[in-house]
Amino acid sequence: MTVTLIVDVDTGIDDSLALLYLLASPEAEILSIASTAGNVPVNQVAANNLAWLDLCDAGDIEVTLGASAPLVAPLMTTEDTHGPQGIGYAELPISSRQLSDRDAATAWVELVRERPGAITGLVTGPLTNLATAIRIEPELPRLLKRLVLMGGAFQHPGNTTPTSEWNVAVDPEAASEVFAAFSGLPEDRLPIVCALDITETIEMYPDHIARLAERAGSVPPELISESDLSTTRSNASNPLVRHFSDAVRFYMEFHRDHDQGFLAHMHDPFAAAVALDPTIATYRAATVDVELDGTLTRGTTVADWRGMWARPHNAAVAATTDPAAFFDDLIDRVGSLAARLYPPHTRS
Ligand code: BDR
Ligand code: CA
Repeated sequence: MTVTLIVDVDTGIDDSLALLYLLASPEAEILSIASTAGNVPVNQVAANNLAWLDLCDAGDIEVTLGASAPLVAPLMTTEDTHGPQGIGYAELPISSRQLSDRDAATAWVELVRERPGAITGLVTGPLTNLATAIRIEPELPRLLKRLVLMGGAFQHPGNTTPTSEWNVAVDPEAASEVFAAFSGLPEDRLPIVCALDITETIEMYPDHIARLAERAGSVPPELISESDLSTTRSNASNPLVRHFSDAVRFYMEFHRDHDQGFLAHMHDPFAAAVALDPTIATYRAATVDVELDGTLTRGTTVADWRGMWARPHNAAVAATTDPAAFFDDLIDRVGSLAARLYPPHTRS
């Protein structure tokens, strides 16, 4: 069954892999890719989105430029996590594709009005564009089929402050407005929230990269090791594997340098997989709000699981999943795409 999507990203290494996953998925119909400032500035995010579309030989998918800064807060970016251009050590050719004439918020609004009830929104960056779109069209939550977002941390430490997750911490006001706008929808249409509690169980290891390269028919075997020199780069015959590997190597080094092991959390690809098939996870309904004032806790997501606030639910928080099954699926899809685009017999 076709899943029609607006994808809003701050590309980003794991956003990149979310895009690859969707472009590798025949059931995903991407209407528009919205770029927002987050991991890197918005112009770089947009350039990355266009470059990945080129590498995947994608059709004419709209890429919009979105917010260059959060609603209220000054912009923070995180090149130490995602590399100087947001794609780790990968160096993608600059695309000659054009950005859309309309901005991201306008695209959100016009598309949901054109196709009411048909579109799944997937947000894997700060929620600035979506909040801006909802200010223009307050009915947007009811015009969407479903919203899936990566963001927040509940019974789990933060990754930006001790209690806050990056996408919410960058633009807490936007996240707060989005959660408020989705209050009271029917339970089966509540926004799906993929928070750190679950996305930090989605651990990519070097073996996953080796398996994906093998699935793509790439040579030589793609063996990333923690003991490699930091100047090591992929020489995979398959360009998609090569760029993917160079991007993820950087992310693994970042996780290692922050005492999380030589692995990479695949937050955004997991949210993309949930957008295509919500049955890969279980959910717990809650009322979620965002702390905006705390001197220590600004940007923290708070979930009322027990109805203490006496406010309607506004989130279906992803609770459990099968990470091994997720990686089998991701390797199969992205590896097949790489093999199809760059067949082994044509490699140079
Ligand atoms: C989120 O923050 C970003 O750095 C990642 O791309 C992901 O969307 C995880 O907290
Ligand atoms: Ca992201």
